[in-house]
Amino acid sequence: MPIDREEITAEPGAYRLWLRLPEAVRAPIGALGERELPAGLYAYSGSALRGIRGWVRRYLRPAGVLKWHIDHLLRHAEVVDLEALPGGGRTECALHAELLAIPGASEPVRGFGSSDCRCGSHLALLPPGSPAPAVAHARLRSGEEMTVRLLRPDDGPRLGAYFAGLSERTRSLYGPHPFTQEEADAICATLDPADMLRVVGELPDGRLVAYMLLQIGVRHIEAEKYRAQGIELPEGECAAFAPSVLDGLQETGVGTAMAAVLFRMARSRGVRTVNLWGGVQERNVRARRFYEKLGFQKIGEFMAGDLNNYDMVCRLQPRRSGLPADSMLG
Ligand SMILES: CC(C)(COP(=O)(O)OP(=O)(O)OC[C@H]1O[C@@H](n2cnc3c(N)ncnc32)[C@H](O)[C@@H]1OP(=O)(O)O)[C@@H](O)C(=O)NCCC(=O)NCCS
Repeated sequence: MPIDREEITAEPGAYRLWLRLPEAVRAPIGALGERELPAGLYAYSGSALRGIRGWVRRYLRPAGVLKWHIDHLLRHAEVVDLEALPGGGRTECALHAELLAIPGASEPVRGFGSSDCRCGSHLALLPPGSPAPAVAHARLRSGEEMTVRLLRPDDGPRLGAYFAGLSERTRSLYGPHPFTQEEADAICATLDPADMLRVVGELPDGRLVAYMLLQIGVRHIEAEKYRAQGIELPEGECAAFAPSVLDGLQETGVGTAMAAVLFRMARSRGVRTVNLWGGVQERNVRARRFYEKLGFQKIGEFMAGDLNNYDMVCRLQPRRSGLPADSMLG
């Protein structure tokens, strides 16, 4: 994905660079010597004390200078995304540790970029099928920071608490599955990001405050409805979206911040068209506005019981146009 340098904050802080290595290479990594690097998605965590924009310029337009470990990897890998975190809130070590919490994430090269600290490395290799970013941070209107990440196998109790906190009203508007602890446990025991991106928003105290689904591919029922409207949902480039935010935090910008990250994840997985999972109830004016703001357009209506619903679709732009600026890219 092309990254516009001007969008990156000039402030100092930490950053995370997402890279894709299309095929395995054996390459010299400076003083670490020749190393095997498997094909896949990598994330490199670093810091830029004199300003993130100035520092990451070298990654976006590599000059061929091989000074740092990352310069060697950049000769073979493509930059797919960048997260800038201005201020001293998060160190590169914390950003890297967060990646290692992802099941299946590993450190393929010990000592990579971590000569100055106690970390084993600052380069993580993500498990196959991971989106870029697989974890990101968003600054909420309240000033609080929210971590946006894929649901993990150990999230069962937290997800159950989230479900228990949803009001009857929210449940009547949002219903991809039952909201029980058993369901939460079953979901966390059978996660498959290749099929469905289940993304949560987590506050610093560990509380989940948003839960959003993006089912990759075309759901049969949706394909038929859309075809009847003259719209073909392309199988390899399509996904169905189902968002929710915890009641007390609705209308505070959480949904918008989460969706911005989720759509970046979707783009990295080749998704170009997003449709609503089960449509949106006509009476759910807030959700309709939310979708419109994200770039969705109404393409039809259908009845479910005695409620009228809208089908809406969004073509993802190559860049994040239409989405408000948050801490992503500074
Ligand atoms: C729909 C939902 C995911 C939106 O998330 P959110 O965090 O509440 O939304 P945001 O605060 O980011 O607001 C996004 C936009 O929605 C619109 N919006 C928010 N509250 C609104 C309201 N009361 N009336 C009309 N539009 C409203 C605004 O356009 C707003 O953008 P703005 O703040 O820049 O004006 C969330 O409200 C939710 O979970 N609702 C219950 C479940 C649900 O309806 N899910 C969707 C099922 S189809």
